[in-house]
Amino acid sequence: PTGLLADRLARPLHDLRISVTDRCNFRCVYCMPKAVFNNDYPYLPHTSLLSFEEITRIAQVFVAHGVEKIRLTGGEPLLRKNLERLIGMLAELKTTSGKPLDLTLTTNASLLARKAQSLKDAGLQRVTVSLDALDNTTFQRMNDVDFAVDDVLKGIDAAHQAGLGPIKINMVVKGGMNDHEILPMARHFRGSPYILRFIEYMDVGASNGWKMDEVVPSSEVVRRISAEMPLEPVAANYSGETAARWRYADGGGEIGLISSVSHAFCADCTRARLSTEGKLYTCLFATSGHDLRALLREGRSDAEISTALAHLWRAREDRYSELRTSQTEVLKLERSANKVEMSYIGG
Ligand code: GTP
Ligand code: 5AD
Ligand code: SF4
Ligand code: SF4
Repeated sequence: PTGLLADRLARPLHDLRISVTDRCNFRCVYCMPKAVFNNDYPYLPHTSLLSFEEITRIAQVFVAHGVEKIRLTGGEPLLRKNLERLIGMLAELKTTSGKPLDLTLTTNASLLARKAQSLKDAGLQRVTVSLDALDNTTFQRMNDVDFAVDDVLKGIDAAHQAGLGPIKINMVVKGGMNDHEILPMARHFRGSPYILRFIEYMDVGASNGWKMDEVVPSSEVVRRISAEMPLEPVAANYSGETAARWRYADGGGEIGLISSVSHAFCADCTRARLSTEGKLYTCLFATSGHDLRALLREGRSDAEISTALAHLWRAREDRYSELRTSQTEVLKLERSANKVEMSYIGG
C-alpha cells in the first residue's frame, strides 16, 4: 500500500467512507428498525450536515495522506439533494500514487434507475447495491417499507447500462429471516456480470437487537451453495479486502463472503469513516468520533486539518471485531448502549 500514514497496528489509511445523510427511505430490520427510526427519531438538522465544499475539503486532506478509495454511504446517499455535484467535486481529486481515485457508493437502488446515468456523467465509477432477497415477500419483510425486488433489479440493470460496474450486490444474511434466500440469490446472480456478496449480520449500533444465534456464518453459506454448485477459493484482490472470494468451479463467476463476525478482518482494516455531521470514526463500532467539522468551522487551515488527521490515525488501535470474537459478552455489555448507528456513521 502507498499509505504515508500508519496507525499503531501498522495499518495504512487507504479508504474513506463518507456518510452523506443519516436518512433512508427503507427500514431494514438489521439497520433502521421502525420501532426506533420512527417520526420521533432525532435526525440531524440540515445545518449539522457537512456541505459539499466541507466534505471535499476534508476528502482532499485524506487523499493527500494516501487515500485511494472513497465510498459515499448513509443512510441512503441518493436521498441527498444534488449528490451529482459532490461526485463531480470528488472526482477531481488526485491521489498521491497517480492512480485514479476509486469513487463509488452503496445504495438500496430505490432511486438508481432514475439516477444511474447522471451519476456516471458526474464522475462516479461504480456502485454497490444492497439486496437481501429475490423473493418479494421476504425482501419486503427485510426492508419493511414494501419496496419491490423488481424495482431494485431495474436499478441494477440501469447502473450496468450506464457503465457503473463492476457492480457488487450485498446481501445481509439474518438467520431465520432471509437465509432461505441464499440459494435463490446465488442461482440468480451466477453467470451474471454482478458479484454477489453475503454479509454476516453484525452487532452495529444499539437498536437492532442483535443476537449471535441470528448470525449465519460464512462457512455455512459456502457449504449450502457448494452442495449444489461447487465452489473453490480465490486469492484476495488486495490486502485488507473485506470479502473472501470464491468462484464456481465450472466457470459461473465469483461470489464474496464478508465474515465480520466469524472471521474478523481488523488486522488489515484501512478504513476511516466520516459521519454525516463531520466526525471522524476510526472503527465501525466506535463509541465516539473526532469532530473535524469544528476544525473547519473554526477556520483552521488545510495544513492544520492535515496534522490533526495524521495525529488521529497514528493513535488508532481499534479492532473491535477481533476483540468481540474473543470476549463477546463482556464487550457487548460494555459497548451496547453507546455504539453509533450504521446509518449515521456510514455502512
Ligand atoms: P469493495 O471495494 O467494493 O469491495 O468495497 P468493500 O469491501 O469496502 O465493501 P462494501 O463497502 O460494500 O462493504 C460491504 C459491507 O461489509 C458493509 O456494508 C459492512 O457490512 C461490511 N464492512 C465494510 N467495512 C467494514 C469494516 O471496516 N468493519 C466491519 N466489521 N465490517 C465492514
Ligand atoms: N450487519 C451487516 N451489515 C449491515 N449493513 C447495515 N446494517 C448491517 C448489519 N447490522 C450494511 C449492509 C447494507 C449496507 C447499507 O449496510 O451491507 O447493504
Ligand atoms: Fe437504508 Fe441501507 Fe440501512 Fe437498509 S441497510 S435501512 S437501505 S441504509
Ligand atoms: Fe475495522 Fe473496526 Fe471493522 Fe475491525 S471492527 S474491521 S477495526 S472497522
